[in-house]
Amino acid sequence: MKKIAWILAVLLAAFTLWMASAAQAADLGHGSQIFGNNCAACHIGGGNVVNGAKTLKKADLEQYGMASIEAITTQVTNGKSAMPAFKGRLSDEDIADVAAYVLSQAEQGW
Ligand code: HEC
Repeated sequence: MKKIAWILAVLLAAFTLWMASAAQAADLGHGSQIFGNNCAACHIGGGNVVNGAKTLKKADLEQYGMASIEAITTQVTNGKSAMPAFKGRLSDEDIADVAAYVLSQAEQGW
């Protein structure tokens, strides 16, 4: 009996991990879609066609204090200079997913 309980515990742990990684992948996929529809016009390939100093590459994000989910979420929500605010156009979930996507792409070098 003890052995069965142990096997069930291991299966449950494996299932939980699998669910967590599936949710993560879905978020980035959704973030990629949001990026293509709302950000790529100005930030195609992680660049910045309006202000070439402030790309979405890791070095620029770090230089301007933008290399975190919180910083990107705030800027996308409220906008900044020539970048429009997305509050009301994108949901909180959309913004969280696109922020995660931008950071993940920056880590990988776009
Ligand atoms: C109309 C053009 C435009 C669109 C659309 C746009 N941005 Fe921007 N983005 C800018 C500009 C201009 C800046 C520089 C703002 C500043 O002066 O700090 C910027 C800066 C950023 C930065 C900080 C970059 C850095 O190196 O400091 C991030 C992150 C960012 N945008 C993400 C996004 C995301 C995500 C979206 C889509 C939801 C988006 N932007 C849509 C124009 C745009």
